[in-house]
Amino acid sequence: MYKEVDFFEYSKDILKQIERGAFLTVKHGEKVNTMTIGWGSLGSIWHKPVFIVLVRGSRYTYEIVEKAEDFTVSFPLKGQLKEELIGCGTKSGRDIDKFKEFNLKTREGISVKTPIIDDCDFHFECKIIYKQKMDENKLSDEWIKKTFYNNGDYHYVYYGEILKSYIKE
Ligand SMILES: Cc1cc2nc3c(=O)[nH]c(=O)nc-3n(C[C@H](O)[C@H](O)[C@H](O)COP(=O)(O)O)c2cc1C
Repeated sequence: MYKEVDFFEYSKDILKQIERGAFLTVKHGEKVNTMTIGWGSLGSIWHKPVFIVLVRGSRYTYEIVEKAEDFTVSFPLKGQLKEELIGCGTKSGRDIDKFKEFNLKTREGISVKTPIIDDCDFHFECKIIYKQKMDENKLSDEWIKKTFYNNGDYHYVYYGEILKSYIKE
């Protein structure tokens, strides 16, 4: 059973989980992939509820999401899928089918083309309303530059309008 919920009620759980890992799933045409994300931001922009994800240009996920209209983010809030989070955060969809390899069941999105990871408890369906590549010249913190972007693999930032948020009961 899936139930739509007010995500603000789950915001604490979601933001706690994001550092531990969530699944960012993307789809364009026949290509579908999921990867682990550890960074993300939940907020209100342009009077819309928005979830922001950051994807490095080197990821297979980037190749897909750059052409996509939407994405989903699935959170295992009960501490499950730890191995799968590691697997999807270390292996690339260029080399393997992660859904098969890690036995991840998907379910069709309700309002987006991208599926969700069914074994998770909480899901966002997001429509991409803005995207930008990080501009290294606008990064003022040298520590961030050295620590995260020494090899020039900058993030692309995707702003997803949250169309649906729901839990699995
Ligand atoms: C806990 C964790 C969090 C991660 N967070 C991010 C993230 O926010 N953005 C990103 O680009 N990569 C992140 N990664 C790395 C990607 O998940 C990893 O490179 C993955 O293999 C990319 O898969 P793909 O090539 O199929 O897109 C994270 C990895 C782990 C283990």
